[in-house]
Formats: sequence, structure tokens, C-alpha cells
Amino acid sequence: MSAPRTRAPVYLDHNATTPVDPRVVGAMAPYWTERFHNPSSPYPPSAVVRQAIADARAALARLVGARPEGVVFTGGGTESDNWALRAGFARGRGRRRLVVSAIEHPAVLETAAALGREGAEVVSVPVDAHGVVAVEALEKVLDERVALVSVMLASNEIGTIQPVAEVSRRAHAVGALVHTDASQAVGKIPVDVEALGVDLLTVAGHKLYAPKGVGALVIAGDLGLEPLLAGGGQEGGRRSGTENVPAIVGLGEAARLAGAWLAGPGPRRQGRLRDTLESRLRDALARVRVFGPPAPRLPNTLAIAVAGFTGAELLAACPEILAGTGSACHHPGDAGSPTLRAMGVDAATARGLVRLSLGRATTGREVGRAAAALVAAALGRGGTSEEA
Ligand SMILES: Cc1ncc(COP(=O)(O)O)c(C=O)c1O
Repeated sequence: MSAPRTRAPVYLDHNATTPVDPRVVGAMAPYWTERFHNPSSPYPPSAVVRQAIADARAALARLVGARPEGVVFTGGGTESDNWALRAGFARGRGRRRLVVSAIEHPAVLETAAALGREGAEVVSVPVDAHGVVAVEALEKVLDERVALVSVMLASNEIGTIQPVAEVSRRAHAVGALVHTDASQAVGKIPVDVEALGVDLLTVAGHKLYAPKGVGALVIAGDLGLEPLLAGGGQEGGRRSGTENVPAIVGLGEAARLAGAWLAGPGPRRQGRLRDTLESRLRDALARVRVFGPPAPRLPNTLAIAVAGFTGAELLAACPEILAGTGSACHHPGDAGSPTLRAMGVDAATARGLVRLSLGRATTGREVGRAAAALVAAALGRGGTSEEA
């Protein structure tokens, strides 16, 4: 007798990371082996490797509407954020104020805190009840003291899309630079550096089907930023260290694939699947809360909480799903999701955050399975759907 077949869990944590697209793996493969040469070496095989890096740079530049010279490959989103904040702030010279939104990723918030310990005046701009940066509050802290404003393009926790073009307009009016952490947006929605008006934009490869440990900082103008890493002068002297060639080639291929996906029916289909998941949960569970609407959201992200459950408890009750809770720790003293707290949500509810994030390959059948598992888990312990 054969053992009963267990189905693989439904992966709904694409905001944490995505699988590397097999076409990306294929594009990278030769650069581990026969095209291993150091791109800085003087012989012909190295020229082939240099060209591959140039092609990847052009592909990523195309995806985000930037000049290829403005794309600097880095070791990922965290590095790009650290560099953008440190170098962007330093470029403000006498300006001592650094403005960040309250819902930034720790890569931004912790760098801002470090700069604060080094003498910067760090100002946090609140978000409204739907998780969108309050532009009027931003306006109040903008003056000629501000060196840099950093507002993410899309929230990693709840997927809300931020008014970055408006932020740029207002920040530039007082002569400040603007950085946006677009780690969660690139590859999911159209991103255009010029339309956003930003000076600096962070890309994280592993959120768009490229490998982990590679990303980019896109620099819109000729800012002459201080490098984060000094050394052999790679990446035009802006990011030293022998290039991670396979990963860079992979990010280039991922950028091409993202451009094609965004131009096709994928995003709309993904949005419909997310909406189906949302309405299945709303219909079955009176005690579900959905965070974000009516604010614009990434089409793949659904952030919920079910009263009576922490996020960790709800997910533990449905092992059929792999999803995120937004916040890593869930001990009783835990204040809950920082994003929900910034939105004014109470700590108990904020501890309940479950982030369901779909991928390009997520199917209707998987969404159905996920909805059924979540409803069963919530009703199993929480009573019936009639209960409020
Ligand atoms: C908004 C945001 N910024 C930065 C990062 C960090 O990127 P990486 O994991 O490539 O360092 C992430 C990833 O979790 C993210 O979601």
C-alpha cells in the first residue's frame, strides 16, 4: 500500500522572497563555469563578462526608466538602503535633518537611527489609518534643514503604495534629496524613476525572481555620492568589490522577465486572485480585518488579522499555507506589526497580522485551498462565522 500523498503547502509569502525563475537560473549558469573570468581582467573572455554586466545594467535601467549609468549593482536591498541613507544624508552637507516614514523597512529605520546617534535629527512622518504616508504631515517638517527624505514605494507588510511622486515634488521644493525603497514594488507594478521624481531608488533582486544577495541602487542624476564600500573601483568607483557576476546576470534576466510580465495580463490576473482570496475570507469570517483598502495596494498582497488570533497562532493552525506575520517575534509583550501600530491599530490586533502575498505562478486552485484552510483554522477555534 502506498503512503498517502501529502500536498505541498501553498506558498503565499512572495513579499519575503520569490523562487528564482528557471529562466534566470539558465541565464546565470554559464557565469559560474565557463564564463568565470574576472570582469576587470584585460583578456578577451573578460570582455564577454563585462558585456554581460552591461547588458544586465541596461535591462534593469529599462525596467525602472533609468539611465544605465545610474544603475549600481549592490548586495541587495539592505545594502542599497544603507548606502542611500548614509550617502544621501552626507550630500546634504550642512543640512542635519533626515526624514523617514514611520513604516519603512528596518534597513532604512535602523540606518536612520544610526545616523541619529551620529548627530542627525531624524524625523518620522506618520501614516494615515490605511497605511499611506500623510503628505500634509511631511510638508510640516520640510524646510532647508532637510538633507534627505526616504519614503518606500510599497509597504512590505501591507502592500500600500505610497505617494512618492508627491513626496519628491515637495521635498525638492526645499532642496532635499529623495530616496525610495522600491524593493517590494519593482517587478510587481510599473516603476519609473523619472515619473516618481526620486534621486535614489532601491531594488532587491530576490523580490523579483532573481537570487538573494543582489540588488541595485538606482541614482537618477549626477549626485557624486560617496561610495559605501571603498576598494578596487568597480561599478564606476561607486561600489567596490569584484562583481557577483552570476547574480547580476540573473537580476538582468529577471528585469527582462518582469518587464514582459508587467506588459501582459499577469498583474490583472494576480489582482483578481488576491481579490478572490480577500472576498472568500470576508464572506466566511465576520471577525476578519483587512488592512490597506481603500488605499492603492500591490496586486499580490493581502494583509489580514482575525480577532482572537495572533498571526503566528493562525498560521500555526493552517500548515497548508506558508505566509508571513510581518513581525518576527510574538511573545506577549510584543507590540505587534510596526506598520499596523503606525496606522493607529491597537497592539492586540497588530499582533494578529497575517500577510498573504501571491506570486506570478499562484493559481486559482491554490487561492481556493488557502482560503479554505484559513477559514477552517479561524472557525475551528474562533466559533462560527455569525459571531462578530
Ligand atoms: C521594503 C524592503 N526593503 C528592504 C528589504 C531588504 O532587502 P534584502 O533582503 O535584499 O537585503 C526588504 C526585504 O525584506 C524589503 O521588503
